[in-house]
Amino acid sequence: MARAGIILAAGMGTRMKSALPKVMHEVAGLPMVGHVIQAMRGAGVERIVVVTHKAGDAVRAFAEKMGAESVIQDPQLGTGHAAACAAPLLKDFAGTVIVCYGDMPLVTSATFDASFASQAETGMAMIGFRPADSGAYGRMILDRARLLDRIVEFKDANAEERAETLCNAGILAAATKEFFYWAGKLDNNNAQKEYYLTDVPSLAKADGVRCAVIEADEVEMMGVNSRAELAKAEAAMQVRLRAAALKNFVGLVAPDTVHFSHDTVLEPDCAVEPYVVFAPGVTVRSGARIRAFSHLEGVEVGSGAIIGPYARLRPGTVVEEDVHIGNFVELKNTRIEKGAKANHLTYLGDARVGAGANIGCGTITCNYDGFFKHKTDIGAGAFIGSDTALVAPVKIGDGVMTGAGSVITKDVPANALVVTRAPQVEKPGWAEKYRAVKKAEKAAKAAKKP
Ligand code: UD1
Ligand code: CA
Repeated sequence: MARAGIILAAGMGTRMKSALPKVMHEVAGLPMVGHVIQAMRGAGVERIVVVTHKAGDAVRAFAEKMGAESVIQDPQLGTGHAAACAAPLLKDFAGTVIVCYGDMPLVTSATFDASFASQAETGMAMIGFRPADSGAYGRMILDRARLLDRIVEFKDANAEERAETLCNAGILAAATKEFFYWAGKLDNNNAQKEYYLTDVPSLAKADGVRCAVIEADEVEMMGVNSRAELAKAEAAMQVRLRAAALKNFVGLVAPDTVHFSHDTVLEPDCAVEPYVVFAPGVTVRSGARIRAFSHLEGVEVGSGAIIGPYARLRPGTVVEEDVHIGNFVELKNTRIEKGAKANHLTYLGDARVGAGANIGCGTITCNYDGFFKHKTDIGAGAFIGSDTALVAPVKIGDGVMTGAGSVITKDVPANALVVTRAPQVEKPGWAEKYRAVKKAEKAAKAAKKP
């Protein structure tokens, strides 16, 4: 059966006190709504509609980037009303629809899959969970057959209903056509005067369609409403990503100190030392080692390479096999070819470093003139002396040597030595004489004081 999805994301998330819509806050470097979209895709959901606030331009742009559609809900009349806003796009969809909130970044494809499977048997399915603190979640009341009788929102619940520990996570699977029929029949006779998605199962029941409830993990079902909950979701996601890396044979000696992004690719048998941050877009090949306190973003690290400690690799960088990048080296939009080395205190931006080249301590590519970026090209086997400034655009031929402290402004042909240093001036005994004069001046000044 074909699968469609609706993600509710029209709330402004006032409890975050942020200019950014709540669902755009990131977990492991991806907006929360992106995690929900990805989990739906993983469960074979082919059409995904994100329901947004009229001021949710950022959410709509992001949804489009992720290949999802979007609609505007205006005004916000409740979760049932929000889901019904997807009707113009999906009402003729021949298949099953799943509804989920956009603030559940830990939800997995497996849970969506299980919901669809259960829906296929029973006609409708929802996900329940038993959190340590049931708080203000909607309570799920089951009948003797363990099917859903009704959901009671916390604000509408009596003491007995509030004592129920099974809570509504906010995932519902149903036949699309029927779903929109029931969503259109909802009323708002409740404490919040809202059209509740959670009343759909009762309408279905009245029409003879029963709703099964699957219990899922508390952590996975967590909804994020505040900064504290966002931090909690991030921590839980990091636990998940670290465990996956270890399972994939990545050498993590202090996994709790390594920070991952949702898309970090670490091949088996690479090693990551403590306190490394992987921002989005990183791939590390087998046999590479990322040493402590390094920060990587948008880079590919080849096998046998050693990065850090204290290295910063920025987007657009490719480090080939057996390259060594040492402490306080920053690379941006730069390709370092096989076996080259930049071991200390260097900035290379918009550059290519040929195979086997050696970049001395303190080397800098002057790649920006205040208006434009320019390229630096360093040939294979070049030896760049310490503290060389390469003023781009500039091309250093294969095998060139540059003298320490040189400022290179013109292209240098292969195998040349280039030095731009001022000649050395030497004055024998000068320093000794200078000290004697100054010492005498100081003594005379002290003698004058009353
Ligand atoms: C909802 C459920 C509750 C469940 C809980 C799980 C309802 C009525 N209640 O309560 O049973 O236990 O989630 O976390 O569904 N939204 C819209 N438009 C609206 C209202 C909400 O798009 O008009 C979106 C929000 O952006 C949010 C999601 O729907 O992503 C859930 O809304 P929220 O107000 O957080 O619902 P809860 O009160 O937490
Ligand atoms: Ca919520």
